Amino acid sequence: MLLKVERALRLRGETEIPGDKSISHRALMLGALAEGESTVSGFLPSDDCLQTLKALRALGVKIEALDSTNLVVSGAGLRGFREPDDVLDAGNSGTTLRILSGILAGQGFFSVLTGDDSLRKRPMDRIILPLRKMGAEIWAREDKFAPLAFHGKNGKGATLKGISYTTPVPSAQVKSAILLAGLSASGQTTVTEEHLSRDHTERMLKFLGAEIKINGTTTAVSGAETPSGQKIDIPGDLSSAMFLIVGALIVPNSEILLKNVGLNPTRIGALKVLKEMGAQIEEENIEERSNEPRADIRVKSSELQALSIGKELVPQLIDELPVLAVAATQAQGKTEIRGAQELRVKESDRIAAVKKELGKLGADVTEFPDGFSISGPVPLKGSVCHSNQDHRIAMALAVAGLVAAGETTIEAAECITISFPGFEKILKSLIK
Ligand code: S3P
Repeated sequence: MLLKVERALRLRGETEIPGDKSISHRALMLGALAEGESTVSGFLPSDDCLQTLKALRALGVKIEALDSTNLVVSGAGLRGFREPDDVLDAGNSGTTLRILSGILAGQGFFSVLTGDDSLRKRPMDRIILPLRKMGAEIWAREDKFAPLAFHGKNGKGATLKGISYTTPVPSAQVKSAILLAGLSASGQTTVTEEHLSRDHTERMLKFLGAEIKINGTTTAVSGAETPSGQKIDIPGDLSSAMFLIVGALIVPNSEILLKNVGLNPTRIGALKVLKEMGAQIEEENIEERSNEPRADIRVKSSELQALSIGKELVPQLIDELPVLAVAATQAQGKTEIRGAQELRVKESDRIAAVKKELGKLGADVTEFPDGFSISGPVPLKGSVCHSNQDHRIAMALAVAGLVAAGETTIEAAECITISFPGFEKILKSLIK
């Protein structure tokens, strides 16, 4: 699919943002592990989250869709899953594949988990190694790529044991996989990260009544802590909102209001950076629901100054770096992002994609092994560019198109439904 965007005069109006992707995955998976029923509202019906839903149903979990965003998950409990008849498919979703592995590792049956071309190239040794240390038997292609096969100990049930593990990269997917495996392991399981990654799993486990201990960047759960079903209300996804936020900042004469957006402190790195760059962003109606903060976000066009982003902030804004790169093209000075080598193993190599695709629009990007620098402001010129089959690259290019002269065409833009179904419609409704 081609997405065409023309230079916008201004962005105006208000909109709801679809549900948070990370929290939607967790609502299904933790709801499935819980005892009792969870009613989920604000669910994101995107391709990624639907892969989690399908995989859980194949594992015998009853999930009733009242409509596309309201679901009822009948918890199977830690031991109530059943052997799937076929290979489980995570599609494009690293979150599905990695976190579900933490559940499958503790089950007493055989299962195989795979994904699409992109996901089968992404590193899975980061979950295989700690889960094996816990006693799981896992096979993988070249010992690190999907498909992954879980032996299940010949139906004898889990024999996992708790471990203390320091992750080589801060990753919420890795942390969550280990913590969920820890729920069915003996003793305590502890995960330590260098810098704190998103903590939705910890917050939701606590919300569902499981005991979880957090000390700085170390998190611990005990085996046999069974969560209980709850009403889970999911906020809008700040990572999706960020495309519209950057759009409103760089298109002159803009003012938009984004309603009901999640503001988890481990996710707000990009908001902090943009505010330091001079962005006029204000939060209104701040409240907390289901143990996650949320607010309405008001954004006005702003003169941006370049800023350097270092390793410590990267986990808090990893998914926002492609669109921050677009902001940097319109900021005064050189913006440098380092310590972000994780971008190379996302849905695409996002460092290479930013350099290549934003370069086609005239951006001045220098590539480093662990990041990039961008000098601005530069006038962008509409051109034909490509999503690299990566939803966040496609949407970042669409935002760049809002300030590029003439028309910008993004090829292979259908991947946007991975995280933000309705993106084109919402964006176009704000262009006035
Ligand atoms: C996610 C964690 C992050 C993020 C991804 C969603 C999650 O990945 O990039 O989009 O929901 O846990 P890593 O855990 O690999 O950093």
